[in-house]
Amino acid sequence: MTNNNRGRRQFLGQLTAVTLAGMIPSPLLAFSGNSSSLAALGGRPVRPAPKTWPKWPYVDDRMVEEVVKTTKSGIWSRIQARTNGNVATFEQRFAALLGAKYSLGTGSGTQALAICVAALGIGPGDEVITSPYTDFGTISAIITNRALPVMADLDPASYQLDPADVERKITPATKAIMPVHMMGLPADMDRIMAIAAKHKLKVIEDACQGVLATHRGRTLGSIGELGCFSFQASKQIACGEGGAIICNDAALMDACFTVHNHGTDKAGKHVTIGPKYRMNEFEAAVLLGQLPTVVERFKLRNRNADYLTEKLKGFKGLVPQKKYAGTESGSYYNYAMSYKKEHFNNATRAQFLKALAAEGIAMSGYIPRGMHREPWVDYLVEQPDYKKMYSPARLQAFREAARQLPGCDQVCDEMVAMHGCGTLIAGTADMDDVVKAIMKVYDHRDKLAAL
Ligand SMILES: Cc1ncc(COP(=O)(O)O)c(C=O)c1O
Repeated sequence: MTNNNRGRRQFLGQLTAVTLAGMIPSPLLAFSGNSSSLAALGGRPVRPAPKTWPKWPYVDDRMVEEVVKTTKSGIWSRIQARTNGNVATFEQRFAALLGAKYSLGTGSGTQALAICVAALGIGPGDEVITSPYTDFGTISAIITNRALPVMADLDPASYQLDPADVERKITPATKAIMPVHMMGLPADMDRIMAIAAKHKLKVIEDACQGVLATHRGRTLGSIGELGCFSFQASKQIACGEGGAIICNDAALMDACFTVHNHGTDKAGKHVTIGPKYRMNEFEAAVLLGQLPTVVERFKLRNRNADYLTEKLKGFKGLVPQKKYAGTESGSYYNYAMSYKKEHFNNATRAQFLKALAAEGIAMSGYIPRGMHREPWVDYLVEQPDYKKMYSPARLQAFREAARQLPGCDQVCDEMVAMHGCGTLIAGTADMDDVVKAIMKVYDHRDKLAAL
């Protein structure tokens, strides 16, 4: 090779590196430059079929033994063993784990939220401000108490409530704010707590996705008056269906107990009205068997989420969920990112997800429409009881405001979520597969339109 030729090749090499480096941040360069074709177009996948992810829900022998023990004991309801049964024991251990004084087991996260609304005396004619980007259980918990679920818009970068819009939505009828810690990362709690204090509102934290995550030294759920958790099968701590409330106020926790025990207090007096939302001893058995290992998996999820975020730093095509000041850890129900199609040759999110799935990496758009775009809004304003409790002007304003939540619409359009529970407890090499697959799809972005 002549000197001239070598010089030319060196120059071209440098040019390519500079051009690539301009578009792809350095942590990703090692994963880029894929020449093999997309698996969706017949190429070899990054993660071929025999490679699997840790199974979810998590199961181990200790959990099975607890269920067998409970079956044989014949103690299947918490009222058969009020202070030392599985449910009572789980409540003590769960409260201690989260640094709260008290906990109450419930039949689901939805039930936990509904109990809190009732226990705070919130009902007909009252309003609760919450997020439109959530499980319908959040909304349903407010409606079953015949209060009005007023939805505030989101910060599209964090998928959490925008505190400024929360404050705009406050009316004289507002009694509480119900922030949802989306994906298990903390909502903007500094500002939400300040708004609640200024307007004398209660805060019920929907921490159904946020178990163990911390914000400024406090676990999610223990920052507001009450915090709620879900143990539904897909959750980080799971027992099929189940939930819990945590709280630091004995009287309020007693009020929650009474509500959830069909209005019957701990002394057995039928003092008020309420549903029967009790956790049963089998659910608590599964949870008790699981508790000794939950922190280990929580740490793994954080380590892997931090690894992915570090690798994707500066990449404009996929932007990981924004964290607020004070966030120390996340629970990572999902590892979530915003898909910016302009950096993927304008390929649709569906085309991107299809290509990624073919590479062996499953992600989804998660919640397809915000709760403000679901039919319940029109249904609710036509209900005879709501027409009695709220003026026609209030219901009309509620319906109109519910349709105008552009931040939430943006989140629904851009969301790309990977289920955190099974995936984020895998190894570093598995996380590298996720990054490799993303970069392979990115390298072939001009071919995505064909999918
Ligand atoms: C944010 C959020 N809120 C509430 C719920 C309701 O919990 P559950 O399904 O246990 O009733 C869930 C569960 O999916 C959730 O993710």
